[in-house]
Amino acid sequence: MSILLVLMCSVFDVTHGLLFGTYGSSTCDSSGLWYDYIVVGSGAAGSVVTHRLTSNENITVLLLEAGGLPLFHSDVPSLAVLQHLSRQNWGYLFFEGLIDNLMPWPRGKVLGGSSVINSMLYVRGNSIDYDRWANAGNPGWSYVDVLPYFKRSEDASVVHRDLAYHGSGGLLTVTDVPYRTGSAQLFVEGFREMGYPYVDYNGASQMGVSFAQATLRKGRRCSAEKAFIRPAKVRSNLKICLHSHVSKILCSSDKSAYGVEYIRNRRRLKAYARREVILSAGAFHSPQILMLSGIGPKQHLSDLGIRLVENLPVGEKLYDHLSFFGLLFTVNKPMVTSLQESISPANLFKFLLNGNGPLTLTVALEAFAYYKTPAANYSENYPDVELMLSGGSLQSDNGTLFRTAFGVTSDLYNSVWKELESKYAWGVLPILFHPKSHGKVRLRSKKPLDPPLLYGNYLTDSENYDLRAFISSIREVQRVVKSPIFQRFGTKQVRPSVPGCRHTLFDSDEYWECVIRHLPITMDHQTSTCKMGPRGDPEAVVDHKLRVHGVKNLRVVDTSVFPVTLSAHTNAPAYMVGEKGADLILNDYYTTE
Ligand SMILES: Cc1cc2nc3c(=O)[nH]c(=O)nc-3n(C[C@H](O)[C@H](O)[C@H](O)COP(=O)(O)OP(=O)(O)OC[C@H]3O[C@@H](n4cnc5c(N)ncnc54)[C@H](O)[C@@H]3O)c2cc1C
Ligand SMILES: *[C@@H]1O[C@H](CO)[C@@H](O)[C@H](O)[C@H]1NC(C)=O
Ligand SMILES: *[C@@H]1O[C@H](CO)[C@@H](O)[C@H](O)[C@H]1NC(C)=O
Ligand SMILES: *[C@@H]1O[C@H](CO)[C@@H](O)[C@H](O)[C@H]1NC(C)=O
Repeated sequence: MSILLVLMCSVFDVTHGLLFGTYGSSTCDSSGLWYDYIVVGSGAAGSVVTHRLTSNENITVLLLEAGGLPLFHSDVPSLAVLQHLSRQNWGYLFFEGLIDNLMPWPRGKVLGGSSVINSMLYVRGNSIDYDRWANAGNPGWSYVDVLPYFKRSEDASVVHRDLAYHGSGGLLTVTDVPYRTGSAQLFVEGFREMGYPYVDYNGASQMGVSFAQATLRKGRRCSAEKAFIRPAKVRSNLKICLHSHVSKILCSSDKSAYGVEYIRNRRRLKAYARREVILSAGAFHSPQILMLSGIGPKQHLSDLGIRLVENLPVGEKLYDHLSFFGLLFTVNKPMVTSLQESISPANLFKFLLNGNGPLTLTVALEAFAYYKTPAANYSENYPDVELMLSGGSLQSDNGTLFRTAFGVTSDLYNSVWKELESKYAWGVLPILFHPKSHGKVRLRSKKPLDPPLLYGNYLTDSENYDLRAFISSIREVQRVVKSPIFQRFGTKQVRPSVPGCRHTLFDSDEYWECVIRHLPITMDHQTSTCKMGPRGDPEAVVDHKLRVHGVKNLRVVDTSVFPVTLSAHTNAPAYMVGEKGADLILNDYYTTE
């Protein structure tokens, strides 16, 4: 099986090179050139900014990206986890807090950023989320303010959608997943039986159950590179430099940014910006670059011997969306995914010719139900938990690819998943949207190529809210699977025997606490490391126009700026921040021309 996979991927990559041509310019190795704007990072947000700015032919933009071109097999949705194991991933491992766990924290290092390696799920969040952003002192970011920006990007063809909430004709294709497993149908029907309405969770109301909406085009991944960079790359006012690692922002003595230093082919080069430098390097690297440039917490910078430019709480807070493996069920019919079956010749043809079949499954994450747990301490009716269906689990490929990508040891695999190889098993991943615990980002050293220090600090809140919300969500799933249709398919809860939890009684709260701490998994939704807020907010790094406080001509436009957590997956909001950020930049351009 693995040989077939490798073969398939190589065929894809060769085809890719032929179809795709080259990016990048020979002048990327020249130092000292001038542009109007420099955009650092070509992820979800940076790609949008780049596209929108260069749609005015009078504006010149340099886009610097540390990674290279996407590998062609990144186009195959069901193989998304292969990307974690490729050079398109920065490849950070995060270790701390949770027992025995070396948790991978993947991040895209490639043209298109994390949108090239992510699971393609399109979930914008609740209107109340954005009203909270605005209420925290950020005018222009309420739901009615940001909805037009979600719609601007979008070309939606989701069948059950609330029309007023979706765009058409935009550059980012948002669709239903063309293939569904039986377990996804079961999940949606079962939740409906138990009182969840079918909703367009990106529409009028999020509270209900729904199949996933995904950034797919013709059954293949629609990344930021495909949607926003590819159509702009021919523009003569845009220069794209790949394999260009930005190490520092250049600031004059009056604290205004006028360019960047970057490392390319082991040489240190400079590029200058007449107007602005825009950091879109993502929630790990935008704060890293700021701190390397002397913009960050005074004490931390002085400990590392970095000269202070502006004392700001950069990297002090990092939110993430945690989940865990272990909420698993078996059914009595073959209605789950199997990698072996997905890559059968018939299914390969289906995919290549029609963009259909199980290879279009977005990592088998196929449906969602939204739930407000009794642990949530707010009165509004919006979810603190998402229950995400996985139409399979780590046993779907008998413990090869998925196990490795998620950093699960073979011992752990053998205890929990091995017995499921001969059964039909799917899982629910409860995702905690509004954790009270938060992590942080720090510099390891003043060397720009050193990876940053990343801390998760999951499940450390003093009131134990995070754990209580998880346990409530497990109880809700257990309630729902009692429904007639789940029972008709013989749904049974798996009793995973987790090493380290054998002293606890199966299904007690103590058991689940132990399982959650032993089998955690991140949704890779890290945010808020350069938080947006007014000058008076002690946690704020950028203002509501995304300008770094106290430094001129410098903005951060990516998921780092999210002021508080979202009931969302972070890619759709990253595009929105890119759209809105581009407008803010262009407004300033037109008023100062
Ligand atoms: C494995 C995985 C699965 C995910 N699944 C989903 C999902 O299904 N749905 C969803 O909504 N979200 C998902 N996410 C999260 C989502 O993809 C990200 O939140 C989003 O893409 C972040 O966008 P961004 O623009 O902030 O940063 P990124 O997309 O991470 O882009 C940052 C870019 O900056 C570049 N860069 C960094 N440092 C430098 C430097 N020093 N010099 C030059 N360039 C630099 C990086 O290489 C990268 O290209 C997932 C993420 C991962 C990693
Ligand atoms: C670009 O500049 C030219 C000359 O100043 C002007 O005529 C044109 O309208 C400008 N284009 C845009 C899109 O602003
Ligand atoms: C929720 O909990 C936080 C502390 O974690 C507290 O500050 C807040 O007032 C609480 N809100 C409500 C509505 O109880
Ligand atoms: C996975 O294991 C099951 C049960 O042991 C077996 O029937 C199946 O053929 C295996 N699949 C692969 C791809 O090895």
